Amino acid sequence: MAIMANSFEEVISLIKDRLDIVDVVSQYVVLKKSGANYWGLCPFHNDKKPSMSVSPSKGIYKCFSCGAGGDALSFLVKIQNREYKDVILELAEKYGIELPQKFHSSKENKNQKKEMISACEKAAKFYKLQLKTAEDANKAMSYLKGRDITDDIIDKFTLGWAPNKYDTLYKELKKEFKDEILEKAGLILKSNSGGWIDRFRNRIIIPIQNENGEFVAFGARAVDEGQNPKYLNSSDSLIYNKSKILFGLNSAQDAIKAEDGVIIMEGYFDVISAQAHGVGNAVASCGTALTPEHVKLLSRYTKSRRIYLSFDTDTAGINATKKGSAVIKETLSALGNIKQFDESHISSNTDNKYACEIRVVSQPEGKDPDEFIRTTGADAFKTYVKNAPLLIDFLLNNILKDKNSAKTPQEKAELVNQIIEVLKDVNNKIIQSEYVKMVSTVIDVDENAMLKELANHREFGEYAQVGNKKLVTNSSQFEIKAQKNLLSVFLANDSSLSFKQLNELLPENIIQDETLIIVKNTIDKLVCTINNVKELTKSLYTEFIEDDNLTQILTDIVELSEAFNGLEPAEFERAVKENIVRLKRCYQEKETEEIRRKYKQVNDDDIEALRIQMQLRDKIKLRTGDK
Ligand code: GTP
Ligand code: MN
Repeated sequence: MAIMANSFEEVISLIKDRLDIVDVVSQYVVLKKSGANYWGLCPFHNDKKPSMSVSPSKGIYKCFSCGAGGDALSFLVKIQNREYKDVILELAEKYGIELPQKFHSSKENKNQKKEMISACEKAAKFYKLQLKTAEDANKAMSYLKGRDITDDIIDKFTLGWAPNKYDTLYKELKKEFKDEILEKAGLILKSNSGGWIDRFRNRIIIPIQNENGEFVAFGARAVDEGQNPKYLNSSDSLIYNKSKILFGLNSAQDAIKAEDGVIIMEGYFDVISAQAHGVGNAVASCGTALTPEHVKLLSRYTKSRRIYLSFDTDTAGINATKKGSAVIKETLSALGNIKQFDESHISSNTDNKYACEIRVVSQPEGKDPDEFIRTTGADAFKTYVKNAPLLIDFLLNNILKDKNSAKTPQEKAELVNQIIEVLKDVNNKIIQSEYVKMVSTVIDVDENAMLKELANHREFGEYAQVGNKKLVTNSSQFEIKAQKNLLSVFLANDSSLSFKQLNELLPENIIQDETLIIVKNTIDKLVCTINNVKELTKSLYTEFIEDDNLTQILTDIVELSEAFNGLEPAEFERAVKENIVRLKRCYQEKETEEIRRKYKQVNDDDIEALRIQMQLRDKIKLRTGDK
C-alpha cells in the first residue's frame, strides 16, 4: 500500500527510515564486523587496506583515509554519482511512498512532456522531409553536400531543412498539437501581429536527442552569407536542459563503453562527421560551455573516466580546453578522491575505477575535427586520438612554445610561474619531480630553484597565512577539531542536557570557522522544532544533502560525539567546559601571534610599535590572568 508524504522532507525522512547503512554499503563494499562497527575498502579512493568504517548505531559511514563520510542516503547519492533528487524519486517509488503533489510530476505535466517530445519528433521528421520537397530545398542540399553530408548521415542524424517561409512547420503540426505545446517545445513564436510563426526559418536543422533517443530540442545553422546568428538553438524547456544534455550521446553510448573513453568536441558538425566516419564515441555540448552536469553524465558511461578534449586548435579552442578541463577536474574531485588527472593508467591498472585521465586531441593548426576528418580522414584522426597527450603535457607544451622568447631572469621566472601553475596540481611526487627535471632542462633554469618555488607555492596556496606557518596550521587544525568537538555535544546520544541547556553552555562566537558556523546555524534552526538527537542528525543530513563537504564535516562531528556518550551529567559538562577553555586559549594565542607579527614589521622608532607592544602586553596579561 502506498504511503502518503506531505512534504519532500517527509519523503526523505520516510526513505531514511527504510535504509539501513550496513545493507546499503554492503551492496557496494565487502564489510567485515569488528567491534561495534563494520570495516571495508573505501570505494571513493584507491584504498589498499580497509579504511572505511560503517557504524550501524550512528547510521553513518566514514573513511579515515580520504575523509568521505555521510549517512546511507548520501552514500547512495555519492556512489551512484547522480542527482540526489533522482535517487530520492527512485527510492520513493521502490518503497511505495507517494510524493506530495507539487513534487510529483502530475499526470497533466507528464502528458505535456510526452506531447512536447512527440511534437519535436514530428518536427524533426517534417524538417527532414523538407530537404526533398521544399521549394528552396536545393540550397539546403547543396550546403550539406558541400560539407560532405551523405544521405546516410542525414538519416542517422535526422538532419533537416526549415524553409524560408513563416509557417511551414506550424501549418503542419497544428493539425495534431495545441499551440501551447508547440510553443513550450520551442517550435513556434508569437509574431508581432499576434499570430504564430515558425521559430526556425531558412536554416539547416540538427535535432537534439536525449540519452534515450527522444527528440527534445534543435540546433539550427544559418546557410546564407551574413545570416545571424550562425546557430540558433532551442531554449531550455520542460524536456530540455542544455547543461545536462550532450549532442550525440544517444548514439555514442555503446562506443563510449567499448572504447572506455569519450571525446568531447565543440560543434554539432564535428560530432556528426566523427560519428559518421567511425569515431563513434564523440559528443558535444549544445551551444554552451561544458558544465559539471555534463561531466557527471559522462562519468556514468566511462569506467576509467578517460576524457579526450577535441576542440579547435586556435586560441579560443585552447582556452576552451583549459576551461573545460578545469570543470572536469573540479567535478570529478567532488565525486570522491579521484585525483590522478595527470597520470596515465592505460597500461598499469585498467580497473582502477577511481582514476581519471584527461587527454587533449590536437590535430594540426587551424582545423576543427569536422574539417580534419573530412580532409585527412578518420584513421588519421584516430591516430591523433591514440597519441593524444595528457592534459598536463599539452598545457606544458603550450607554455614552452614561448621558451625562446624568455631570456632575462625575469622572463624566465614568469615562464616558471606559468609552469608551476600546471605542476602544482600533480599529486604524485615522483611524477611531479620528473616534470620539474625535464622542464628545467628545456628552459635552462636551476632544477632545485624550481622545486623550491613549487614548494613555496604549495605552502602559500594551502595556508595563505604569513608569519609562523607551522604554528598557524597546527593551531588551526586543533581549532577546527575543538570546534567540531563542541558542536558534537548536540549529537551525543544520551546527553542529559536539553538542546537549550547545551546552547547555554556554549559562549557566543565560540564557533569561528566559516563552514562550522553554517553547521551551528543549521542546528540552531532545527532545534526549534526538533527535540531528540536522532531526528536532529537525520535532519542535518537532509539539510546538507546537496553539499558533499558539509556532509563530510557533519559526519566528523557525529563521529566525535561518541566521546561524549555515557558520561555522567557533571562529567559531560566538565568535558564541554574544558574544550571551551582550550579553544579560547587557542584563539588568544593566535591573536597574540598576529600582534607579534605586526610588531616585527614596524620599526622601533615608530609610534605604532609602542602601541602594538602595549597591546601585546595586555593580551599576555589577560591570558595569564585567565588561567
Ligand atoms: P560550423 O561552421 O557549422 O562548422 O560550426 P563550427 O562548429 O565550426 O562553429 P563554431 O566553432 O563557431 O561553433 C561551435 C559550436 O558553438 C556550435 O556547434 C554551436 O553549438 C555553438 N555556436 C556557434 N555559433 C553559435 C551562435 O551563433 N549561437 C549559439 N547559440 N551557439 C553557437
Ligand atoms: Mn566547423
